[in-house]
Order: sequence, then structure tokens, then C-alpha cells
Amino acid sequence: MNKQKIYIETYGCQMNLADTEIVQGVLKKNGYEFTNEAEQADVVLINTCAIREHAEERIYGRLGAFRAIKKHKPNLVVGILGCMAERLRSKLIEEEKIVDLIVGPDEYRRVPELIDNALIGEKGIAVRLSRTETYDDIEPYREDGISAWIAVMRGCDKFCTFCVVPFTRGRERSRPLQSIVNEVKSLYERGFKEVNLLGQNVNSYRDGEYDFADLLSAVAKAAPTMRIRFTTSHPQDFSDKLIYTIAEHENICNYIHLPIQSGSNRILELMNRTYTVEHYLERIEKARKIIPGVSFSTDIIAGFPTETEEDHKMTLEVLKEVRYDGAFMFKYSARERTKAWEMGDDVPDEVKTRRLNEIIELQQKISYEINQELIGKQVEVLVEDFSKKSKDFYMGRTDTNKIVILPKDGLEIGDYCIATIVRANSATLFAEKAEKIEKLPVLQNTYEKN
Ligand code: SAH
Ligand code: SF4
Ligand code: F3S
Repeated sequence: MNKQKIYIETYGCQMNLADTEIVQGVLKKNGYEFTNEAEQADVVLINTCAIREHAEERIYGRLGAFRAIKKHKPNLVVGILGCMAERLRSKLIEEEKIVDLIVGPDEYRRVPELIDNALIGEKGIAVRLSRTETYDDIEPYREDGISAWIAVMRGCDKFCTFCVVPFTRGRERSRPLQSIVNEVKSLYERGFKEVNLLGQNVNSYRDGEYDFADLLSAVAKAAPTMRIRFTTSHPQDFSDKLIYTIAEHENICNYIHLPIQSGSNRILELMNRTYTVEHYLERIEKARKIIPGVSFSTDIIAGFPTETEEDHKMTLEVLKEVRYDGAFMFKYSARERTKAWEMGDDVPDEVKTRRLNEIIELQQKISYEINQELIGKQVEVLVEDFSKKSKDFYMGRTDTNKIVILPKDGLEIGDYCIATIVRANSATLFAEKAEKIEKLPVLQNTYEKN
């Protein structure tokens, strides 16, 4: 039996958080133990992201910190997992002398073997991408909690021209529907209250005749009092069937993350996003009609190659037209191997920054206005944790994915409640009264206080 202690740090998207639990599942089976303190660890693993240059810079910063630990603990093993490992491969070991192992997203079964080798001084690299690996038989290591992530598909075949994911995660493949349903049932029995179904492009999920809407509906039926969330949806594949499925099941949350990236059709075409602004708006309109009270968030990239002031204004217009509840907004970052890399990174950095700031400012104003409308209304909240700022308050989320800070009012973490909103800013709602409800759902949407 191994007794080495492992410390893992995770960066990037929710898929990486889910992957870390898979890696821990694999390690646990091999007798390893975990620690939350890097200083106590025999092995330090960093699950990395490569989406933008900045994401990788942070990892280099962390490697600096581990170098300091290794100075007084020379046997410490340092490993890089995830998308940056896949992107940079042997270069990382050559350039960063403290790195002992490099493991890409499809090779996590080999982590124990590579750690064992590293412990006797042998460096190792495993970065083969697979067309079939879904880790379906691996039981993820999850501490008891409220919310769980399940990767239902892996990889991406969309090849948006700015994006490294198709290179770092390889081709699309899905887990069998029945096995996902079984996993949700066991989470339900363990007391989890929410499950997030994950994929870079979840709408491309496929298991024989079953598509993503079938999966969503099977999961919703298997755990009728659990909240079901999913991300990320691609506008091209956002079908009517999916919209009706969300509407039909009250425990599927009325929240859709639907990245638009740009409001200019010319830029969308250069991005290979495969939809037009008109198609996108039509999908939003349809969803709003069929799912009353549905909320939307999006991703925006500012300063894609050749983006003009005109294109940028069209993005601002789309934000005004859709009125998203929230958005993740980024400056374009040129990534090697992608098609856009060859287009040249011709929008000057100060222009990108200014455009990004205009986008952020507008979106914050819209989020603020939308949240103000909730003051005086009652919302249904799942209590997820203590508030970060004070243990005297709880933090929870509405069905529409808004963060609510609420009084304890005899509630426990994991309870559902009806809370009255008394204050709001662009990112958070604050509630005064909160009343426990036994079962979800009591109300599908917010309703007027009588
Ligand atoms: N699969 C998801 C998102 C993956 S990455 C989707 O298709 O929407 C999350 C977000 O990062 C993207 O939606 C995009 O807005 C942003 N992003 C990806 N590559 C980027 C790059 N090279 N520069 C800046 N932002 C990028
Ligand atoms: Fe990247 Fe596009 Fe795939 Fe999303 S859909 S992961 S942005 S290539
Ligand atoms: Fe980053 Fe890889 Fe996710 S590049 S965003 S960790 S898929």
C-alpha cells in the first residue's frame, strides 16, 4: 500500500474540476492519500488550463511557489495535468526543471504509474489523446456536498478558430446514458441536491439513439427533487426538443449558458461559430417563449483578429437586445495551432482593453437593472454554503443561477427555501426572510409578494 500524500490544485473550467475528482478516484484505488496542504505533500499535482495566455502564466507562477518548497524538500514530486500539459508536452519538462510528470486529459489512468516512477527519479510524459476514453468505470472521488459535476461527454469537434480545446481534449465522445443516470441516482441517495452535467458542447451528447435532451429528461426523472444544471450549450445545436425538455421538467433549472462570442456575423464566420446573430436571437426568443422566466448568460471575446469598431458596436447591441443576466467576457488571446493564430493578432492591446471595458460596463449595468427588478419578490433558493464574508449568513442560488446571501433563519446547508429579496447589486441578491420548504419545486419562477 502506498502512503504518499497527494496535493492537487485545479484551474480552468468545471470540466477540470470534474477531472480532478476522476484523478483522485484513480489515485484512491491505488492507495494514495490526499492533503489540503502543499507543504505536507509528497506529490503536488496541478490540473491546468490553456485557454488563454493568462491562464498559463498563472501556472508558471504556481510552479515558482512549488520550486521554493522543493528547495527544502528535494524529493517532492511535481506533476502537471490537464490542458496545458497536453498543449506543451515535453517542452514543459525541458523548460521547467522541477516538473517530474506531464499527463494529458485522456491519460489519467496512468497517473499512479507515473507517480511511482517519479518517486524513484524517473520523469514521465503521457499525452496520447483517445477517441474512446470517458472514464465511465472510474468512480470519482467526491466529498459529501450539495452540488456535483458529471462530465457526460469529453472533447470538442467544433474547432472554433480561436480555441485550443479541440487540440487539448481531442475528439467528442459521450458516456452511456444509463451509467450517467445510475451515477445521478447514487448522488441523490448520498444527499446531493444538485448535479451539473458537463461537456464542452453538451448538446452534441449522443448515446446511440439518445441525444442530450433524452439524457436531461432521464436524469430529471431519476432524481425528481434534485436540481439539474448543464453547461455549455452551443447555439447551433440548441434544439427545440431541448427547449421543450427544459420546460417540461421543473427540476431542470431555468438557466442557459449560451456563448455568443460576438455580435458581428462577419466575425462569427471568421470564428467558425457556424451560426448567425439572427439564428442566435431566434433561439433565445423561442426559449423565452417556451420557458417563462428563463435566464441566460453568455461568453464574449473582445478584439478577435480584424475586429473593427463597427463589429464591436454590434456586440454591444446584442448585449442590449438580449439583456443577459450575466456574462463572462474576455480579451482575445492568440493560441498556437489554432486557425486564428494565422490570422495575426492585429487589434492593439489597448484597443482590446478599451472594448472589453465597454462590454463589461454595459453588461454590469444590465445585470444591475435586472436584479433590481427582483427586489420585493420571493425566490426559491438552494442553500449551498456559508457566505464567504460571514459565517452568520448563508450563500445560495436561485434556479436561475443568481447568488443570494440570506439569513440563517433556522435553515441548514442543503435546504431549499423561499427568500424575500431586499437588496441587489449586479452580481448578488440579498434576502431578508427565508422560509424552508420541504420539497423542490414549489414555484417554478419568482412570483409577486402578496
Ligand atoms: N465550449 C465552450 C467554452 C469553452 S472556453 C463553448 O463553446 O462556449 C470558454 C470561453 O473562453 C469561450 O466561450 C470563449 O469565450 C473563451 N475563449 C476561448 N478561447 C479563447 C481565446 N483564445 N481568447 C479569448 N477567449 C477565449
Ligand atoms: Fe472551443 Fe468552440 Fe469547442 Fe467551445 S465549441 S470548446 S469554444 S472549439
Ligand atoms: Fe481550460 Fe481545458 Fe477547460 S483549456 S477551459 S481547462 S477544457
